[in-house]
Amino acid sequence: AGSKSSDVVWHRHNVTQSDRGLMKNQQPMLLWFTGLSGSGKSTLAGALEKALFDAGVHTYLLDGDNVRHGLCRDLGFSSEDRDENLRRVGEVAKLMVDAGLVVLSAFISPTREEREAIRSQFPSGQFVEVHVSTPIEVCEARDPKGLYLKARKGEIRDFTGISAPYEEPQSAELTIDTSNGDLDIQVKALLDYLSAIGVHG
Ligand code: PPS
Repeated sequence: AGSKSSDVVWHRHNVTQSDRGLMKNQQPMLLWFTGLSGSGKSTLAGALEKALFDAGVHTYLLDGDNVRHGLCRDLGFSSEDRDENLRRVGEVAKLMVDAGLVVLSAFISPTREEREAIRSQFPSGQFVEVHVSTPIEVCEARDPKGLYLKARKGEIRDFTGISAPYEEPQSAELTIDTSNGDLDIQVKALLDYLSAIGVHG
């Protein structure tokens, strides 16, 4: 969706995304991690970011818990608020990719429609969807923040997987279940995929 006013015109500047990517010798892109609370999105995205950073890639990690302390602090977990949360994050990620970065994001992002809306704003190859597919039983047993317990007791409304929906991706580039195998192997699988699509210049 564009601007509300037809008098606002897009201004094309002199330095392009491709110039900025070339300067860093990298292919700017957005790596979109989606999955249930406790599925391991942040852990996986954080470990991948560290590995990329150590390999000289200029990265930035956008994380649900952190973004909800600032940019999206006015939003809760109704379906309208989640859509707005993800719309804002998509816009910020787009700016960061335009800035030449390899952006990683870790949001539940429960609806296919919202994920596809973000995907559609990127050329093919610049949006990589990673489904962190850890089963809900495992997420609930981990319950790192005690939120599943609260949700079961009815103390949290609209909790994803319990009292609010999660729509599994149908077209994710990668699917990773963190309930078995170790983190290093999972990160290696992600790095191999990214090397194959040419994350480095
Ligand atoms: S969303 O659906 O993409 O807008 O969610 P996100 O911004 O990723 O925020 C998810 C984190 O918020 C905490 N939390 C909840 N999650 C789901 N449902 C409800 N009702 C809820 N309330 C709070 C939870 O800790 C999520 O963190 P993660 O890292 O995903 O476990």
